[in-house]
Amino acid sequence: MYYSKIKETAEWLRSRMPATPTTAIVLGTGLGRLAEEISITTAFDYKDIPNFPVSTVEGHSGKLLFGKLGGKDILAMQGRFHFYEGYSMKEVTFPVRVMYELGIKTLFVSNAAGGTNPAFKIGDLMVLTDHINYFPEHPLHGKNVPTGPRFPDMHEAYDRKLIALADAIAAERGIKLQHGVYIGTQGPTFETPAEYRMFRIFGADAVGMSTVPEVIVARHCGIRVFGVSIITDLGGFDNPVEVSHEEVQIAANEAQPIMTELMREMIARSE
Ligand code: HPA
Repeated sequence: MYYSKIKETAEWLRSRMPATPTTAIVLGTGLGRLAEEISITTAFDYKDIPNFPVSTVEGHSGKLLFGKLGGKDILAMQGRFHFYEGYSMKEVTFPVRVMYELGIKTLFVSNAAGGTNPAFKIGDLMVLTDHINYFPEHPLHGKNVPTGPRFPDMHEAYDRKLIALADAIAAERGIKLQHGVYIGTQGPTFETPAEYRMFRIFGADAVGMSTVPEVIVARHCGIRVFGVSIITDLGGFDNPVEVSHEEVQIAANEAQPIMTELMREMIARSE
């Protein structure tokens, strides 16, 4: 049932899309500006795409964009579905399943995250080298979708070649890049100081409320993944500080130019 819906949606899009991109981007926090650089050929409101999750925010439907960026045909999700909004994990990851059916081979994702690594500064970019799935529901829970095995390997969730390419681009252009482990948690609360401390002990360098479900499903489909977090606040577990959505937005906006530059180059240069 779930899989036939995925197929149906992919079929609907395939007959309407202008090209067959193999690269997709989830335009999370910090990549709003990248969207402006896409020369869009076709855009679909999520609400018009059959079987797509319905937006919980009135009058705020996201868009699926087809266009060109860095000379490449790309597909981009402008707006993602978060678990804290009330979507099931099957809904959160539905678009990634559809991407696979459309022929996507490489997925770029971004997010905002709180730093738990004391060496991090607000505004730093952190390349995801690995993740910890701390969501209460697993996106592969239930009948296995036949794009991958029942028990998928996760030893290289984030493609090492793409990480090396990011390091090369950063060195060339003088972009400071941190590397680290992202822990995905349900939110919507930011962490208590004790929770930030726990996540640090777990081995996380940053914590956020997205990305992990999409990455798990992408890997289940054999799509390679590259992810970047903007460190928008620091888990002050020794010296508790208030965290607000507004400061997360401000820090993410300030980091947008370098995030955009890095992602644009990554997309242009990745195969
Ligand atoms: N915790 C969880 N999610 C976040 C944070 C945080 O500190 N910052 C931005 N997204």
